[in-house]
Order: sequence, then structure tokens, then C-alpha cells
Amino acid sequence: MKKELEELQKKASAELNSAKNREEIQAIKTKYIGRKGLLTQILRTLKEVPPEERPALGQLSNVIKASLSAKVEDALRDIDLAMKDEALLEETIDVTLPGRGVKYGKIHPITRVSQEICEILMNLGFAVVEGPEVEFDYYNFEALNIPKDHPARDMQDTFYIEDDIVLRTHTSPVQVRIMEKQKPPVRIISPGKVYRPDSDVSHTPMFHQIEGLLVDKGITFGDLKGVLTYFVHQVFDKDTDIRFRPSFFPFTEPSAEVDIQCVMCRGEGCRVCGQSGWLEILGSGMVDPEVFKVVGYDPEVVSGFAFGLGVERIAMLKYGISDIRLFYENDQRFLKQF
Ligand code: FA5
Ligand code: MG
Repeated sequence: MKKELEELQKKASAELNSAKNREEIQAIKTKYIGRKGLLTQILRTLKEVPPEERPALGQLSNVIKASLSAKVEDALRDIDLAMKDEALLEETIDVTLPGRGVKYGKIHPITRVSQEICEILMNLGFAVVEGPEVEFDYYNFEALNIPKDHPARDMQDTFYIEDDIVLRTHTSPVQVRIMEKQKPPVRIISPGKVYRPDSDVSHTPMFHQIEGLLVDKGITFGDLKGVLTYFVHQVFDKDTDIRFRPSFFPFTEPSAEVDIQCVMCRGEGCRVCGQSGWLEILGSGMVDPEVFKVVGYDPEVVSGFAFGLGVERIAMLKYGISDIRLFYENDQRFLKQF
């Protein structure tokens, strides 16, 4: 029996040495030292051995069992380590591969142009204020000398929310809101979104304006011309031609629209400027005395000028874009160019 036990130990050891994975090791463990394994089977025959030999054989079988158990544990640990090494080898990082590159977002061209315009005007001493996009009819029209049923309302098609609440059609209502709150002098600009049911190559239903308002004693049309000419020469180049064309707004008198020489054709005449050689970028004028009366300013004491410019128009001219709708289609190929 002693021989049998030693034989078993030898065989089990040899098998463990050549086992290739956890499953094989577990199977060997069950086969030799499991509850119904070969070792147990041999021990069942212990009662056939003379009693004086039994204790030594029992002890020997215990030693063999312990040593095989330890060997199984060692083999399992070795296999785990080997598997880890193999996995690490497979996961090796190839440091020579090119990197993936971080993609940066960019500021939308309209936001950029708007910021640039505000910067120029802030450097002239204008302060930035904001007003609501959902506006009372009173501020959008009435207080600006455009009463209900006045034909001037047709100049600006309007989205109505309720009878007396509209999506503002221009940034001019901010003029009234500021003058209501503040005594002269006033020197503000107000950028923001405005809305009109309009859509073609130079009109979108939502677009951006920047309003300007300067009120003080002794402000003249010369001040208006000086500020706006300086402004145009800052936004475009110094030799861009500019003209003041007489116009009409109910809230300014006299009024002028400002055209610049078409930047596409340099005044030759093309599709973008409708062959005229000129492009309108803003409306302006001296604040109408009627508006001063509404906000409680004395038109005998103060005077001022105001202007409202279209940001998209200026962006189109700056970047040579012939369809305004491109700004709002979110086509990456278009936006990537800025
Ligand atoms: C006005 O909105 C006046 N509030 C401007 C003003 C302010 C005059 C202060 C006097 C004193 P107008 O409707 O012309 O004026 O619009 C001003 C500018 O907005 C236009 O010159 C044009 O550049 C731009 N604009 C008008 N409609 C659209 C549109 N649908 N899409 C894009 N830009 C537009
Ligand atoms: Mg106009």
C-alpha cells in the first residue's frame, strides 16, 4: 500500500507539472485528492492492512494529501501569473502610433462679429445693455412713435404672441427702456436677437441687431456721421467708401441709412449689391422729439442720435458670404472655415 501511495504522488505531480490551464489543474485535484478521488479509494483498503502498520500509512497519506494540495495551489498561482503576463503583452501600447488630436469648438461667426462690433463701440465709451426678446407692443412700436394702424408698422412684419406682446422686430425698444430709467447723458449699445417673418438670401426670420444710442446736450448730425464713419472704417478697411442716404424712421428725424461700397465688386455692380455698387448695413438718425417726450426728456435741452445695425449683413460683407441662411444651417463645412 505504501508503494501505491508513493506511486499516486508521483503521477499526480507529473500531471500537475504538465497541466496547461486552471481547468486541467482542477480536474487533477478532483481525480487524486477529491472526496471520491484515488487517494480516498486507496485509504478504503486500510482495514485490510495489519493494525500495527495503519498509523504510519495514515500519516503518509496525510502528508501526501497536504503536499499535493500545496502543489495544486502553486500551479494555480503560476497559471494566473502566466495569464496576466500574456494579457499585458497583448495590451502593449504602441507609442509610435499617431495621436488622436483634440477637437476644439469655435465661436460662431455671428457671435464673433457681434463681439468685434461691441468691442469697437465700447472703446468709444458706449456701455452694453440688454433688453427682452419678448416685448410689449408699447416698447417695440407705440413709444417709438409708431401708433397702432400707423402705416409704418408695415415696414416691419411682426410675430405676435398676444395682442399687445410681440417678438421684438428690432433692438430699438431698448432705447426707450433705458431712457425711462436713466437721466441724460446716455451712451449705450444693445446687441441681441430680433424677429421678422422674412426669408430669402439676405433675410432670416431671426437675426441680430446692435442698437446704439447717444443722448447729451448739443449732439448733432455731425456726431452721428463721425461715429458711424469711424466705426465702418474699423470694421472694414480704412478705404471703404461710405454714404449716408436719406431715409425714414418714425423714431428719428432726420433719418439716414448707411451704405458701404460693395465689398464683393468694389462698387462695380454685382449680384450681391443688385448692381448698385452699394450695400445697406444700418439705419440711423437723430432721436425724434416725440420719443424724448414719451420718456420725459426735454427735447429743448438734449439731443441725440441712434442707430441699428444688422450683424448678419456685416458678417456677410466681411467674409464674402452671399447667402445669409448659411449662418443657420449648421453645416460643418461652412462653419469650419471661420
Ligand atoms: C431698423 O430695424 C431700425 N430699428 C434701425 C434704426 C435704429 C433706425 C435706430 C434709426 C435709429 P431696419 O428695418 O432697416 O431698421 O433694420 C436695420 C438693419 O437690420 C438693416 O439695415 C439690415 O442690415 C438688418 N435686417 C433687417 N431685416 C433683416 C432680416 N430679415 N435678416 C437679416 N438682417 C436684417
Ligand atoms: Mg432698412
